[in-house]
Parts: sequence; structure tokens; C-alpha cells
Amino acid sequence: MTFDHWKDRLRARYQELKQQGKPFFPFTVFKDSLAVLIVFCAIVYLAVTVGADLEEIADPTATTYNPRPEWYFLFLFQALKFFPGKLEPFAAVVVPTFVIIFLLLLPFIDRGPKRHPIDRPILTALGIIAVGGFGALTYLGYKSPLLNPTIHQHPVVAEGKRLYQELRCSYCHSVQGRGGVAGPDLTTVGAKRDREWLIRHFLNPQQATPGSIMPRMHLLPEEAEALTAYMQTLGGEGPFTPEAPTLFAQQCTSCHAIDGKGGDIGPDLSAVRTYRDKGYVYSYIEDPNAMNPSAMMPGFKETLTAAQIEDLARYLLSTQRGR
Ligand code: HEC
Ligand code: HEC
Repeated sequence: MTFDHWKDRLRARYQELKQQGKPFFPFTVFKDSLAVLIVFCAIVYLAVTVGADLEEIADPTATTYNPRPEWYFLFLFQALKFFPGKLEPFAAVVVPTFVIIFLLLLPFIDRGPKRHPIDRPILTALGIIAVGGFGALTYLGYKSPLLNPTIHQHPVVAEGKRLYQELRCSYCHSVQGRGGVAGPDLTTVGAKRDREWLIRHFLNPQQATPGSIMPRMHLLPEEAEALTAYMQTLGGEGPFTPEAPTLFAQQCTSCHAIDGKGGDIGPDLSAVRTYRDKGYVYSYIEDPNAMNPSAMMPGFKETLTAAQIEDLARYLLSTQRGR
């Protein structure tokens, strides 16, 4: 079959359709409007019934957040993992640009008269590969392990954070390099000061630190409580989840004691934070042999997730354990 023949047939078919066709207005306009209305109603319905959750106030000092894009960007999130460091812009900008240019040029490249997908094997195969690739990357991105344990912030701590912003504490204090210098840096204050002192100091700074220039803010007891709870999360290695003690009891107390409870096959870990850092503890739980060739302790790389090991390490190193 020649190209001209195909063209003639297409032209004939076009004429035929045009003859029995309906005008753009009002028929097509009506159809389009109807489709738009249905989609709009669905979105309004979802917005009212399901809604979209907001996360906590963004915290520029947080180092323990698990950033995840929305599902429709998970493929890109996952794809970027194959392009380490400097190559990221290549994957994020160059590749998509070329793909879009290719799609724009496609009508000029693919001049074949045949329209059925089976008659266009190369482009159909490319299309299937692309869709499959997107699907696979989205799935992998969805399944990729979280590196930090997901911690739902305690409402009292969240309230303390809010007060910290509202009362402009950062005018005088800094946390992880952000804020003023009139007062001491609070980055690790949770490890330095205990609860009782903090509450006493918040209610009356001059009484706790004679001569302090920190203003007395006439806080309500529950406000002092909230600020204290927030201060106590500063320092240490970050918060651990309520599952950490349970996990430790299940996996570790047969050999290790902590705060007076547990076995004595391995060393007592109550004070491990005074002589080990988190990198060491994390790696030891993951794979003791990598840290100590004669280790007797079994590794937990296979049985615990990265987030669980991180959680255990923070629990062991926390200054707030047991409270
Ligand atoms: C006008 C500046 C100023 C403001 C505003 C201020 N502070 Fe202070 N703060 C200080 C100074 C100076 C000290 C050191 C003397 C003392 O212990 O009171 C201090 C001490 C502290 C300490 C003890 C730190 C340590 O290591 O001993 C904490 C905790 C603290 N402030 C928290 C806060 C919080 C939370 C707020 C907001 C509600 C706040 N501060 C507002 C000046 C300020
Ligand atoms: C079968 C017994 C056993 C179990 C179960 C076990 N450990 Fe150990 N662990 C040991 C022994 C023994 C050592 C001492 C060094 C060695 O031989 O590996 C040790 C050492 C350690 C150390 C290093 C201490 C240091 O100062 O060097 C850490 C941290 C630790 N264990 C954490 C854990 C955690 C967390 C768990 C639970 C997930 C756990 N261990 C489960 C036996 C065990």
C-alpha cells in the first residue's frame, strides 16, 4: 500500500466524519464543560471529606526529618539516587529536557501513516518501557527505607516550640547556629540542665541565675512546662520513639543491662553515652564484627531496619531515658 493511498483514505474518512459531524458550539463545548464540572466536583468532594494534612511547622534546625515528595514525584526522587552528587542536575534537568524535546519533535520524527499501536512497534515499545520505568521507580521510591525513625512530636513539645517562636527567644539565643548571641547557645541545653532547673529558671530567671538579664516573662506554669519539654529535646542525639525501650527489651536485654535491668553477657549500657558516640553505637548494633573483629555480639543488620537501629542508638545515648 502506498503512502498516497493511505492519505486518500484518511481524507475520505475525514470528509465522511465532517459530513455527519456536529458543530463545536454548543456540542463540544457542552461535553468539555461537563467533564470539567465532574472533575471539579470530585476535587471539592475530596477536599471536604479527606482534606490535606499539614505537617508540623518547618524547623530549619531539624536534622531528623524524612523528606519525601508526593507520590507523583517519587519516580524522580528515586531516579536521583542513581545519580550521586554532582550528577544530580543531569538527572533532574538535562534528562527531562531531552525527553520533552523528543516528545515535541515526535510528530515530525514519526511520519508513518499507520496509527494502530501494533503497527508502530518501536515507539509503542518505547512508550511501554517509559511507563513501566515510571511505575517501577515510583514503587521503589515508595518502598525505600526511611533513614530516621518517624517521630510524632509530643503535643507539649510542639507547644514549647511554638512558644519559643512567639516569645522571640531566638532574639537572644541560638539553636544550631540560628539566632542571637545575647544569651547562651541552647543547642545542647537539654543535656546540660535538668527539668527542675529549667522550670525554675523560666518562672524566674533572676532567682535561678542571680543577675541574669533574661527577662522574666510571667509565664503560666503550663507554658514553662512546654518550653522545658522543648528544651529537653535539644542536645543528645535526637528524640527516640516510644518503641525504642520495647525493642531494646525484646532484642537486647537478654545480654545487656540498662538502668539496672537485664543480662550480663554483654556490658551494661546504662552509661554508654559517656564513652561512645552515635556513629560507633549505630555501627556496633548493625555489624559488631566491622567494629571489633573478636565481637561476640550478633549483628542486627538483617533483623532490624535502619530506622530501628537509629532509634535504638538514640535511646542508648539519650540523656532523657527513664523519664
Ligand atoms: C534579653 C535576652 C533574652 C531573652 C529574650 C531570652 N533569654 Fe534566655 N537567657 C538569656 C541570658 C543572658 C541567659 C544566661 C543567664 C541565665 O541563666 O539566666 C539565659 C539563659 C537561658 C537558659 C539557660 C541556658 C544555660 O545553658 O544555662 C535557657 C534554657 C533559656 N535562657 C531559655 C530561654 C527561652 C526559652 C526564652 C524565650 C521564652 C529566652 N531564654 C529568652 C537571655 C535571654
Ligand atoms: C547474644 C548476646 C547479645 C545480644 C542479644 C546483644 N548484644 Fe550487644 N554486646 C554483646 C557483647 C558480648 C558485647 C561486648 C563486645 C562483643 O563481644 O561484641 C556487646 C557490645 C555491645 C555494644 C558496644 C559496647 C561498647 O562499649 O563497645 C553495644 C553498643 C551493644 N552491644 C548494643 C546492643 C544492642 C542495642 C542490642 C540489641 C539490639 C544488643 N547489643 C544485643 C552481646 C549481645
